[in-house]
Amino acid sequence: VDKDGTRVFDLRMRAGETEFEDGLRTPTWGFNGSYLGPTLRAARGEKVRVRIENGLDEASSVHWHGMHLPARMDGGPHQMIEPGGTWTPHWTVDQPAATLWYHPHPHGATERHVRRGLAGMFILDDDRSEELALPKRYGVDDLPVIVQDMRFDGARLDGERRIMQNVGFLGDRTMVNGTLRPYRDVADELIRLRLLNASTARTYAFGFPDGRSFSLTATDGGLLERPAPMDRVQLSPGERAEIVVRMRAGERVMLRSFPQDNYGDGWQRRFGGGDDSFDVLELRAAGELRPSPDLPAALGELETPDGTDAVRGRHFDLKRSGVNGRAMDLGRVDETVTRGTTEVWTVRNGNGMPHNFHVHDVQFRVLEVNGEIPPAALRGPKDTVFLPNGTTMRLALRFSGPADPATPYMYHCHLLYHEDEGMMGQFVVV
Ligand code: C2O
Ligand code: CU
Ligand code: CU
Repeated sequence: VDKDGTRVFDLRMRAGETEFEDGLRTPTWGFNGSYLGPTLRAARGEKVRVRIENGLDEASSVHWHGMHLPARMDGGPHQMIEPGGTWTPHWTVDQPAATLWYHPHPHGATERHVRRGLAGMFILDDDRSEELALPKRYGVDDLPVIVQDMRFDGARLDGERRIMQNVGFLGDRTMVNGTLRPYRDVADELIRLRLLNASTARTYAFGFPDGRSFSLTATDGGLLERPAPMDRVQLSPGERAEIVVRMRAGERVMLRSFPQDNYGDGWQRRFGGGDDSFDVLELRAAGELRPSPDLPAALGELETPDGTDAVRGRHFDLKRSGVNGRAMDLGRVDETVTRGTTEVWTVRNGNGMPHNFHVHDVQFRVLEVNGEIPPAALRGPKDTVFLPNGTTMRLALRFSGPADPATPYMYHCHLLYHEDEGMMGQFVVV
């Protein structure tokens, strides 16, 4: 924290090498270290400034996924950092406590840059999250879980997309926080996992092999109104969920990803990853556990709009070739929204393969999924939603500004291969 109370972070994008396991020494990229980046943390109302230096030999950018901030600070493809250059975005945190993340966003190369290792978590706190009886000792009973899938070709990271994988690259192993075969010793009854799907194409359905249920407490943009019990939570690329799981003394339990029943047709399940299952993270409980207070019955009120004050609707049709029939063009503004207003966006995927939909700058509310009230897992604040083929969602979004007619924000499919190929559009707030 500097003199005027601003929280200051330094990030350096750099090339290095990582030994993922014995003999698997491979070139990687990271922020400050050789793979991934530090967890950044700030509280609502705080000013934040990040000084980013690009120590790579190609241009990149750093985007604050899920953050409400001025378009000039967003770190999308219009805020590129040249090799050797620096960029120092700053903003005031003005949104609820949440698990956000940061990653590069260079047009046409996002998949490659993220896969090389450029990603990190950005945790936001607020008064309510401080007060609530939720596990909150970082690294003790409150654990960051950055999930990525990898494939190795001998000792090298293999980033090639197989020919039938029309969702993008799919690995055959998973890593948590850059570690293969991860486990974690825990010593509390309740453990909070901040799950981030930082994979470029793979969707996971997280759960436990013994079928135990856990409590979903937060989605992408923060807390639910109340904890929701469930035994699976599905996250497509870019999505986050906070879950709280109850441990039994002395046990070992594996967080796993299971085959997905809603993923798509037989082709997609087989070649797009929907039938796969993976061990993700083993939790090893101590022989004696510290008691944890019960979860609060209520977590708080949603700040996302309910759509009743919407001033207009828009439609987004998702296709591999682009959104609404147009491939991304950095020089074209697709949508213009008015600062301070709420809109309802209808997003439809009839493209025969899975997509998802992410909007910069806002946290939105899912009003309907195929005409129905959304399931509990979609009732919290969201910035990214998974749309298997045949899905239509209605979303309520409020654009609170500031206005900047010259600088667009992005919306796009967060299967990064699709994004890179042009499944992205731009909107400005005026
Ligand atoms: Cu996580 Cu436009 O990105
Ligand atoms: Cu984003
Ligand atoms: Cu897509």
